[in-house]
Amino acid sequence: MSTITSLLVVLLAVAASSAAGVAGDGGNKLKHIHLYMHETFSGENATEGAMLPSPFGANATFGSMGVFDNELRTGLNRDSPLVARYQGIIVATGVAEGPALEGRLTVASILFIAGEYNGSALSLEGPFVGFQGTMERSIVGGNGKFRMARGYYLLKLLNLTSPNSAVSEIDFYVLPADPSYL
Ligand SMILES: *[C@@H]1O[C@H](CO)[C@@H](O)[C@H](O)[C@H]1NC(C)=O
Ligand SMILES: *[C@@H]1O[C@H](CO)[C@@H](O)[C@H](O)[C@H]1NC(C)=O
Ligand SMILES: *[C@@H]1O[C@H](CO)[C@@H](O)[C@H](O)[C@H]1NC(C)=O
Ligand SMILES: *[C@@H]1O[C@H](CO)[C@@H](O)[C@H](O)[C@H]1NC(C)=O
Repeated sequence: MSTITSLLVVLLAVAASSAAGVAGDGGNKLKHIHLYMHETFSGENATEGAMLPSPFGANATFGSMGVFDNELRTGLNRDSPLVARYQGIIVATGVAEGPALEGRLTVASILFIAGEYNGSALSLEGPFVGFQGTMERSIVGGNGKFRMARGYYLLKLLNLTSPNSAVSEIDFYVLPADPSYL
């Protein structure tokens, strides 16, 4: 598998697992936002691609880098309303082989372009490790209504993958710094 292919596979290769429930509420105003991520792998409307190969040779992944601008829609269908763009980079940061060690660091923004949060954004950071089951990343901040927010999100690949596209379920759990922002 080429470096570029393996990086893209990383964006796809998530086994199905049970979705986690709402956690950590405890009476606080934990905001749940449920959307579907639509990815296109190639062609004129591709939403992701490889940026740089590994500097360690054709068979290495470490150091390879990809960019994505995926669509977050309200439904499973590609025609459902577009609410946000999920824009970021993914870098293979694991030097060692093995599912638990092949970390990929993702740094991304969720830019809301419609609906209740139009004009606001969430900042995300965190690894893909193992590419198994539901993946979790940290929400480390935001803008607009999400200024100084924190939280996490859960991403689960659904069984709707075609050679050129995939759909994932994405659940954000956001604790705003000040509930009056929302
Ligand atoms: C790409 O998107 C444009 C604009 O929505 C559309 O007209 C075109 O058919 C799309 N191309 C493909 C290959 O899906
Ligand atoms: C990559 O791995 C293949 C299969 O093991 C091998 O034939 C090839 O020589 C390797 N290429 C490099 C640049 O190491
Ligand atoms: C989102 O906000 C922008 C800027 O205020 C506005 O131009 C646009 O019409 C809004 N979009 C929707 C779908 O409400
Ligand atoms: C995923 O879809 C394929 C093709 O429709 C089907 O054969 C397979 O059983 C499905 N897997 C799961 C886990 O639902």
